[in-house]
Order: sequence, then structure tokens, then C-alpha cells
Amino acid sequence: MVSLGPGDVELLTLKALNAFKNCDAICVPTKSEDNSFTKSISFKIVCEALSHLGVEKKIIPVYSPMRFNEQDWINEANIVIKASKDFGSVCFVTLGDAAIYSSIYYLLDIIKEKDSVLHETCEVIAGVTSFSAASARVQKALCLGDEQLVIKPINPRGKVETTEILMRPKIGMDTQSLGEGDFYTFENMYLTNENIYPTKIDKVKKYMTLFLKFAKREA
Ligand SMILES: C[S@@+](CC[C@H](N)C(=O)[O-])C[C@H]1O[C@@H](n2cnc3c(N)ncnc32)[C@H](O)[C@@H]1O
Repeated sequence: MVSLGPGDVELLTLKALNAFKNCDAICVPTKSEDNSFTKSISFKIVCEALSHLGVEKKIIPVYSPMRFNEQDWINEANIVIKASKDFGSVCFVTLGDAAIYSSIYYLLDIIKEKDSVLHETCEVIAGVTSFSAASARVQKALCLGDEQLVIKPINPRGKVETTEILMRPKIGMDTQSLGEGDFYTFENMYLTNENIYPTKIDKVKKYMTLFLKFAKREA
């Protein structure tokens, strides 16, 4: 599951480029029913990345009508599963970062149900979000000092739940005040002594600690 960034091929990560270099096929979403890529931003970015790498890869269209419909996600997951059987290592691409309003986590749940062995080998590659890029384009910070950042769906379909990202703790602080919920703690991520806990740690030991308190979701 490869995040493509917001549109500029130069905002692809090295991890994404390496995934393209090493894969056997790339699944690219398209809103066109005839599986053409005339309107696909993802296809444009993938083509630019492949030309940058000087490699050619099998491209598999994945019809993604963006109707927020479970049957569509099942159809998309089936294409990815079949591609992995037919070709081997497969990338599925998503715009911006996979964590933000992307269908990939619906697809991963379906893949887990249908093919748990394939699911165990799946990896998600993070990318640049549209709003990080937008902030950079106009050279205005998203958060300064004690400000907080809110990301809102403009047209919610129902009750809006909130995921909280909690940053800049004080070393030695007790985390009781952060409340309870579906917490994860990340210490020294990608660095020496990395720790990722599927809980909230009781006391902060390192400044490089962040907490995610995930929105309430149906099981
Ligand atoms: C389904 S969400 C995907 C968000 C994406 N995963 C991200 O990390 O930004 C699509 C929305 O992201 C925003 N978006 C994504 N790419 C954008 C771009 N290049 N320019 C402006 N808005 C963009 C728009 O609000 C669009 O409606």
C-alpha cells in the first residue's frame, strides 16, 4: 500500500520508489468504468516515478468509483489479491498519505478476511499529506506554539468521531490526564531504541514520544 503524496512526483518517498523498483506489478485506481487512466492523477504520478527510475512495470487498473460502498472495496481487494497471485509482489497506490481518508484500510480488512497469508506480508508506506504540502506551498505553519490542528470531513455521512495525535510531552509526565481509549504509544520511531506499544504508557521517558488515540470504530 504505497502513499503517492499530493501530486508532485518529487514528493514521493524513497520507500515508495524502492517499492516500485522491487515490485512485479502496480495496481492503480481509476474512476473510469472503462479502466482507462485519462482522469487518473495516481496514474500520472506512477508513470513519472517509473520514468524517473528507468523501469517498466505491469500496470493493473483498479476501478474505484469512490461511492463509499463495501462491494466496491471487495471488488478492488479481489483485483489486488488476484494480481498478487498472477504477478507476485504488488503495489496498490493511494494519493497523499494512506492514513488520511484513504480506502486502503477497508481493502486491508477485506484482504485479511480473504487471504490472511497475503495480509501478513502487506506493508503500508507513509507519504506526504495534501495539507502538509498545502502548508509548505504557502509557507504557513499548520501548528505553532500551543495551537492544535483539526482535520474535518466537509460532508460527513454520520456521527463524526475523532482521532487525537498527542505530541510534545514532558519527560517524566504522568499520562493519566490524556484520558482513556484506543491508544498507541510511539517512542523513538525509526530511531535507535524504537518502541511501539499498542497502549498508553504510564510515564513519559523520552521527548520523542507521540500518542495516537484512535477514533471509535465499529469492530
Ligand atoms: C480522499 S481524500 C484523500 C486525502 C489524502 N490521502 C491526503 O493525505 O491528503 C481527498 C481530498 O484530499 C484533498 N486533496 C488531496 N490531494 C490534493 C491536492 N493535490 N490538492 C488539493 N487538495 C487535495 C482534497 O480535499 C480531496 O477532496
